[in-house]
Amino acid sequence: MTVAAPLIRLEGITKHYQMGGETIAALDGIDLQVARNDYVAFIGSSGSGKSTMMNILGCLDSPTQGKYFLNGRDVAGMSESELARTRNEEIGFIFQSFNLLTRATALQNVMQPLIYRGMRPAERARRAREAMARVGLENRLDHLPNQLSGGQRQRVAIARALCSEPSILLADEPTGNLDSTTAADIMALFDTLHAEGQTLIVVTHEPDIAAHCRRSVRLADGRVLSDVMNAPRMAAGHEESGHV
Ligand SMILES: Nc1ncnc2c1ncn2[C@@H]1O[C@H](COP(=O)(O)OP(=O)(O)OP(=O)(O)O)[C@@H](O)[C@H]1O
Ligand SMILES: [Mg+2]
Repeated sequence: MTVAAPLIRLEGITKHYQMGGETIAALDGIDLQVARNDYVAFIGSSGSGKSTMMNILGCLDSPTQGKYFLNGRDVAGMSESELARTRNEEIGFIFQSFNLLTRATALQNVMQPLIYRGMRPAERARRAREAMARVGLENRLDHLPNQLSGGQRQRVAIARALCSEPSILLADEPTGNLDSTTAADIMALFDTLHAEGQTLIVVTHEPDIAAHCRRSVRLADGRVLSDVMNAPRMAAGHEESGHV
């Protein structure tokens, strides 16, 4: 019987750093698979390797040892230009600090990744407007980042990630700079994207945030300590009912 290849397959991934004669194992033999449309939380204490893992998954960094297959392709075998294309077209990265261009409008920020595709400006703008509408910001296109709230800035960053229609959204502490109500709004948006078929991996320190995901992978000292399916979420008080 053939089984559909997982979107992500990691085999024995290690990442070692040499620091003054000492070797730090940020990742120490990770085996993990992520299926299409999975919704995974990476949890674990500070220094456990979560960001290192996200950087490898996002092809921003390469492992010291081990294999990473994305969409069935060995990432180590990709040329620089294939890696750049993969980062641009397959991966949507969302950061704690939003990482928006401060002098560019929301719409220009969202359009930016499409510039590298050789897409016509009118088509870029159309796609970016569509992504801004998906995150509920169709009436904030011309605002600069400092004219937006923290939650709105993160929505712009999410729209920027979405407009490439990536295979996977990687979010490293996306709610770390937001108050709890705004954080819940961002997670509700992620829940919707997941329901629409998006694959998501979210790094978080907060159990409330991890509980939105279907699956929790706990890292400790660069290893997978546990990998469990989360209990289905009950509708929370401030959310719309009917979501069981
Ligand atoms: N460039 C680097 N050089 C040396 N050591 C590093 C480097 N990057 C990370 N490390 C070490 O690797 C380990 C894992 O770091 P990582 O940033 O992945 O942790 P984390 O789980 O994301 O932590 P946090 O929750 O604080 O963000 C840490 O011990 C860290 O000090
Ligand atoms: Mg981190």
